[in-house]
Amino acid sequence: MNSLQNKRILIVGGSSGIGLAVTKQACKAGGKIIIASRNAAEKHDDLVSAVDHDIETYSFDVASEDETATALKKIGDIDHLVITARPDITPAPFVETDLKQAKEAFETKFWGQYQLIQKAQGQISQNGSIVMTTGIAGEKIFKNFSTMAIINSATEAFCRLLAIELAPIRVNVVSPGFVAPKSPEVEKYAQQFPSGRIASPEEVADAYIYLMGNPYTTGISVVIDGGARLM
Ligand SMILES: NC(=O)c1ccc[n+]([C@@H]2O[C@H](COP(=O)([O-])OP(=O)(O)OC[C@H]3O[C@@H](n4cnc5c(N)ncnc54)[C@H](OP(=O)(O)O)[C@@H]3O)[C@@H](O)[C@H]2O)c1
Repeated sequence: MNSLQNKRILIVGGSSGIGLAVTKQACKAGGKIIIASRNAAEKHDDLVSAVDHDIETYSFDVASEDETATALKKIGDIDHLVITARPDITPAPFVETDLKQAKEAFETKFWGQYQLIQKAQGQISQNGSIVMTTGIAGEKIFKNFSTMAIINSATEAFCRLLAIELAPIRVNVVSPGFVAPKSPEVEKYAQQFPSGRIASPEEVADAYIYLMGNPYTTGISVVIDGGARLM
């Protein structure tokens, strides 16, 4: 495994959930962490306390080309780029899906990852990597998850394409199953999985650390779903 010691790692979506868990683990591995999200800079002091480590923070919206370009210029060169920004989407039957909300979800999760990676070219180390986030709804079809199914499966294809076009930079995805928000319905549903429960953010974060560090991984999806896709 390549060491993350002193590596500059930009984690977009690192202020909460899975991204915050990646931040904590990457800090412990000796990385120099930069957290970005729409409100990360405003939460700087709280985030430093949460991770107990000196970090940089930037606020920008990945759905905004201008904000993304401006922030990337300030951030400068990085070794690894991790993207865990989560769109607001309410699961609903396809015929009832709010088209505006579905398009906004694409703007954040699909086009956000797309433009961030495109604009960061020239700033990512040739020995470095990109880790995007998809989700199990892209592989296993769950009723009422049409928007996430399409975004996640498009991102999986995008990852394989980028692994070829951006080499030697490695490009991978992590595909989480059910993590959060916890609800009695989701926890009951998860009892059917081989794992018998939903995941913790920390369990999913392990996969990002592995993908950044393993120099022979590229174009792959690491599924951390407790076996949900098998049901
Ligand atoms: N949680 C699950 O069960 C689950 C399951 C499958 C897949 N996933 C995927 O895993 C990833 C992380 O999910 P999570 O549950 O850990 O999310 P989360 O706790 O809601 O955190 C989302 C992060 O994204 C940032 N963010 C949201 N919109 C943004 C935007 N437009 N621009 C920049 N930053 C933005 C948020 O900060 P600000 O509010 O400050 O912007 C926050 O740091 C997402 O891609 C999600 O689709 C999650």
